[in-house]
Amino acid sequence: MKLEMEKLISHLKTMGFVFQGSEIYGGLANSWDYGPLGAELKNNIKQAWWDFFIKKNPYNIGLDSSIIMNSKVWEASGHIGNFNDPLIDCKACNSRWRADKLIEEKFTEMNVGGWSNEQLENFIEEKKIKCPKCDKTNFTEIRKFALMFKTNQGVIEDMTSTVYLRPETAQGIFVQYKNTQRALRKQLPFGIGQIGKSFRNEITPGNFIFRTREFEQMELEFFFSPNDSKNWFQYWLDNVQDFLENTIKIKKENYLLREHDKDELSHYSSRTVDIEFKYPFGIGELWGIAHRGDYDLSQHQKVSGEDLTYLDPVTNERYLANVIEPSVGVERLLLAVLCQSYKEEALENGERVVLSLPNNLAPYKFAILPLQKQQVEKANEIYLNLISKTGISGTFDDKGNIGKRYRRQDAIGTPYCITIDFDTDNDGCVTVRERDSMNQNRVPINQLEEYLKENTK
Ligand code: GAP
Repeated sequence: MKLEMEKLISHLKTMGFVFQGSEIYGGLANSWDYGPLGAELKNNIKQAWWDFFIKKNPYNIGLDSSIIMNSKVWEASGHIGNFNDPLIDCKACNSRWRADKLIEEKFTEMNVGGWSNEQLENFIEEKKIKCPKCDKTNFTEIRKFALMFKTNQGVIEDMTSTVYLRPETAQGIFVQYKNTQRALRKQLPFGIGQIGKSFRNEITPGNFIFRTREFEQMELEFFFSPNDSKNWFQYWLDNVQDFLENTIKIKKENYLLREHDKDELSHYSSRTVDIEFKYPFGIGELWGIAHRGDYDLSQHQKVSGEDLTYLDPVTNERYLANVIEPSVGVERLLLAVLCQSYKEEALENGERVVLSLPNNLAPYKFAILPLQKQQVEKANEIYLNLISKTGISGTFDDKGNIGKRYRRQDAIGTPYCITIDFDTDNDGCVTVRERDSMNQNRVPINQLEEYLKENTK
């Protein structure tokens, strides 16, 4: 069954995962807030990334840099000059479009990422591409639309106080490369990763949380010697796939790799591979792995005047490190996980919606459900003991019939429902029901912690 986005969006709202931003004021286009369960799920994804790429990787260390930086950073990185989208207006109905997306949405097999404005204009005219809103073919020339949000720092609004909200977290890493390397006494190869908000004034945000103006990135900049013969690009491509398949449990058949061709490569990249996910609305970029060479360090060295070269302790040579960058958006990963997990199932006595989230990502790992009033106290004691002593996140629900309580936990992806019944007093055991199979088994209360830890890693 093909997942309908409307159904997923409505489910996520009802269950407390994702709400429309500023909803009581009529909303703000394409802004989304994460409810209690969405916030847990998002945090679990970020924690999983941090554990895999920072804590458990022998080469990497973490950073948390500012959103607002000296504007020279963006001059050096090329964002002030180059970070813009080709904007085109329909003269008939005044609607505004991204010229490249107009083409790619009509010719889905094409990728026109590296095309000049002239190429785009000619193609639109030649193929008589219509305005998606009014069906006319009467467009303006393409104009550049700067994607960075501008604001002012300090009390005086003038040119010298202009600052930008960062459009990527990567530059914060390049700017602190030297401090980080020195403070941690790192030798090449090593990587610096960070998770944080980025902002882009996208012309056509959309598809729920897929493309928004405010989003979070998890980026790793991996620095290595230009003389290093190891294929670090392949190493990181393999690591990203390992993380996707074994930690986040994205199924192999749900994603594909796409190598950028020469025309499409960004100005800083000599090789880029995108990992694309099969979203319900079409195939879309999830994760980009780019070889950035020494572009960023050499630009920052030039504009800041700081020496960013590395003195090789073995060869005594000085050089600028090369960089491989795996970069992913938290929300795109979250959306991929949700699309893959959402299921509607027919049961003997009705139907259920299940979020078959990987156990390690589920907002709650367990729910304690006392069957009768008499067991509420005992159940509460088990619940409080588990959450305070073990730190495993869980929930408690003693309201309504047990069938409905199971349905609610299935719908929010809780892997284990634990019921306390009359036998509990006699045998010291509880019934544990597994979300996907709905199988039940008896587990001694004193082994619950171990059971949950083992099964929700
Ligand atoms: N530092 C490199 C960089 O930022 P990018 O391909 O522009 O590269 C990296 O962005 C990732 O960030 C994308 O693969 C995507 O997952 C996410 N991303 C980019 N723009 C986004 C947006 N407007 N909304 C949500 N996620 C976005």
